Amino acid sequence: MKKVITYGTFDLFHKGHYNILKRAKEYGDYLIVGVTGDSYDIGRGKLSVKDSLATRIENVKKTGLVDEIIVEEYLGQKISDIIKYDIDTFVIGDDWKGKFDHLSRYCEMVYLERTKNISSTKLREENFTKYNIGIITDQTDDNQIVKEAKLVSGFEVTSVYSEDMKCAEKMQEKYGLEASYNDLNSFYEDVQVVYIRTALDKRYEMIIKSLDAGKHVICDVPFTLDAQKQVELAQMAVDKNLILINNIKLVYIQVFIQLLWMVQSGLIGDVIRLECSVSKKDRNVPYLFYELMAMSICPILKIMGNNYDDFNFKLIRKNNIVEFGTVNLKYGDAEAVINVGNTIRVDNKIEIIGTEGTITMRDNWWRANYFELEKIDGSEKQVYNVNFEGNGFKFLIRELLQMLQNDRVVSKTLSIEEAGRIVKILQAVSQA
Ligand code: CTP
Repeated sequence: MKKVITYGTFDLFHKGHYNILKRAKEYGDYLIVGVTGDSYDIGRGKLSVKDSLATRIENVKKTGLVDEIIVEEYLGQKISDIIKYDIDTFVIGDDWKGKFDHLSRYCEMVYLERTKNISSTKLREENFTKYNIGIITDQTDDNQIVKEAKLVSGFEVTSVYSEDMKCAEKMQEKYGLEASYNDLNSFYEDVQVVYIRTALDKRYEMIIKSLDAGKHVICDVPFTLDAQKQVELAQMAVDKNLILINNIKLVYIQVFIQLLWMVQSGLIGDVIRLECSVSKKDRNVPYLFYELMAMSICPILKIMGNNYDDFNFKLIRKNNIVEFGTVNLKYGDAEAVINVGNTIRVDNKIEIIGTEGTITMRDNWWRANYFELEKIDGSEKQVYNVNFEGNGFKFLIRELLQMLQNDRVVSKTLSIEEAGRIVKILQAVSQA
């Protein structure tokens, strides 16, 4: 019996999919189809898949052409499958031409011509709502949103607004955007979502203007250093039925969600101390200290909750410039410490010490793709990782898409209460 295998996502099952399965079957007597699993697709950056794995499998099955369906769950699985299922021929569309030549060591490789003018990407673009994102900025760096937005289907950064037209034009050229403006009203006509990436003292005003214009907003954090204003903004967005999302990517990143789950389900026992450290790198803006502090308070609230008993802080200054800041939050007998280095260096790290083990996230923990777990029972240190490229913006945009689809304006991932707490602490620090 000659066995053939082919793989695909098979999202929004279409004629091209049917054709390739039909022709693949003609290469042998028994056809196995590997359908990509959700986490495998997310890992390789395919965030836009619409149909569930169950639906995609069902659609492949309904063709009546397939003898066996398997799920492709990890990079490199194809080689194991070829050996495990004793495959004679591997068939794939010629969009992959040359990419799988190395498999010819294990079986015959066949690239088939793709059916013209149809693809899942095209169907997604034709059938689902499109959202144009516009950047409001006073700088010329996009924080990777242009590239990352393209990975979530329906989203595209199309324009940029800046008070300074030169800055807007520079951004337009640098990122190949459709338009640049220094007139807000014309800019708003072009977009449904805005990303506010301005100096801290402009954010509050820009959020209000954008919500007033009926736009959903993603804004760098903190929005403001005034807790009352933060509450007003959140309420204003809810009243207008618009989304106002904090640009803190960590909470949308899979390894952090996994870490939260593990800590909260008691894997390291009771948390007795959490330390979160970050120091400034290249960007040299005066408000960066507060951005870093906001980013560091977030994992503490997510892991240990909003109900700290008390907090205090200490700032080390030289010539009126804050060199280093530390915040302590007391939770009963447990404690959380934030260290933010402005001119003084600290190692970027989150360490969660529990009665039964320790979890550590090192390096760029705010866009983490791994953490380490060390239990006190003597078992070996374990590393949990999920690879992804970029800074994680795509996961935040995917959440925005889900909120839009579900007609929900308040994030369940980072609540209004949590965002409010962050600003409360920052306000105290900034008034010292
Ligand atoms: N395929 C094809 N002709 C098409 C579309 C897909 O022959 N018009 C083949 C692919 O080459 C692959 C298989 O169908 O061998 C599964 O492809 P998949 O990536 O799931 O479909 P696409 O439509 O290419 O999806 P996307 O646009 O998301 O890349």
